[in-house]
Amino acid sequence: MADAAKQSRPKGTQDFLPPDSERLLRVETEFRRIAAAFGCREVITPIFEHTEVFVKSSGAASDVVTKEMYSFTDRAGRGLTLRPEGTPGVVRAVLESRYRLPCRLYYVGPFFRYSRPQKGRHRQFHQLGVEVLGEPSPEVDAEVIYLGADFFRSLGIDDCTVHVNSIGCVRCRPAYRQKLVTFLTVHVGELCADCRVRIESNPLRVFDCKNESCRRVVADAPRPRQHLCAECGTNFEMVLAGLTARGLRFELNDRLVRGLDYYNRTTFEYVSGALGAQDSLGGGGRYDYLVGEFGGPDTPGIGFALGLERTIIAAPQAPAPPRRRLAFIVWMSEAELAPARTLLDRLRSQGIAAQIDYGARRAKAQFRSADAADAACCVIVGGDELTRGVYSLKDLVTGEQTEVPADRLVERLRTLLNG
Ligand code: HAM
Repeated sequence: MADAAKQSRPKGTQDFLPPDSERLLRVETEFRRIAAAFGCREVITPIFEHTEVFVKSSGAASDVVTKEMYSFTDRAGRGLTLRPEGTPGVVRAVLESRYRLPCRLYYVGPFFRYSRPQKGRHRQFHQLGVEVLGEPSPEVDAEVIYLGADFFRSLGIDDCTVHVNSIGCVRCRPAYRQKLVTFLTVHVGELCADCRVRIESNPLRVFDCKNESCRRVVADAPRPRQHLCAECGTNFEMVLAGLTARGLRFELNDRLVRGLDYYNRTTFEYVSGALGAQDSLGGGGRYDYLVGEFGGPDTPGIGFALGLERTIIAAPQAPAPPRRRLAFIVWMSEAELAPARTLLDRLRSQGIAAQIDYGARRAKAQFRSADAADAACCVIVGGDELTRGVYSLKDLVTGEQTEVPADRLVERLRTLLNG
């Protein structure tokens, strides 16, 4: 790699400078608010885990594990992986700390997948996730699906469609799997190389393949939802009834199998027309066997993860506020620097964001710094004003300048900055 390339950000990563970083934070804050309203509390797990954690849960044959993991060996020879998704780490953490069940958790943070970058697909991206452990009721499935939809709605994302499906359980899946394998084997010549391997390793994943020929084959393949046992059938009806009761519009999508191995019964995805090829804003499902796979007691689970970058693409842009809630202090001459510094500290201690430029000797240059900082106003500290016990306050949006008595300054700034 050329030296210049080594100094730019790695392929598939992004920088978020203000105000973009602030937009991200606002969306995260909204997610935290809604997740908390549904009774969830935040969980924070490591950015890397033992590789085994993902292989065991995401699935040894899944694309995420076979093609997309950032794995490395540490100095002591441990096999570690930057987390490609959140569910395995959360399940591990809950089990390891014997956390009280049932529990409702949410997380926000960076994830890593070595995939081909394109619009809405990055190598480092952010997920907003929810995991509910120990709650078996199909009512909870509906509630969790609704939580995600509620979040998108609160951001003004109107074209988000919820796709739902059921892929059965340990009782009905084996017979269905066999039927699907038989069907795919007949059509093996029409499948891509990946899907030929999937017939044995994970036949359901063929439904997810983007290859045209594979898509033609699966158009006639037996569907999981047509082969549910009575219990799974009733369970799915109850999930749909829960969604309908909440007035949530959804689409049944009998090809929705999801790309990770741990799912059973309900699977769902939030799809948006604004995204192009990567049209999934988020997705999830039930995973009633995952805790067991980790050696824990039988514990039902359900959750989802939403892509923060995709959410930002789909959300209508709120008009950026013209200025930050920041007061910039301008000192007229060397003699006013000390009182200006005192004022700076006083404003900050009263909760007013304030900044100063120590380096620029001329007021004009300090005004330029105020502009670069996007400050909403300048408080001018001048010798004559100090003697008269006033400050000049310049509104940088309107350009208007007024004099304010020293003891009224904080009050005036509060009105101006919060207005
Ligand atoms: P997932 O479908 O692999 O599920 O990812 C969820 C969401 O993360 C996607 O719908 C997408 O919005 C975002 N995403 C995934 N990969 C990328 C990428 N390379 N660039 C940008 N965004 C991406 C899971 O991760 C499961 N852990 C969800 C879950 C939680 N299931 C149960 N609980």
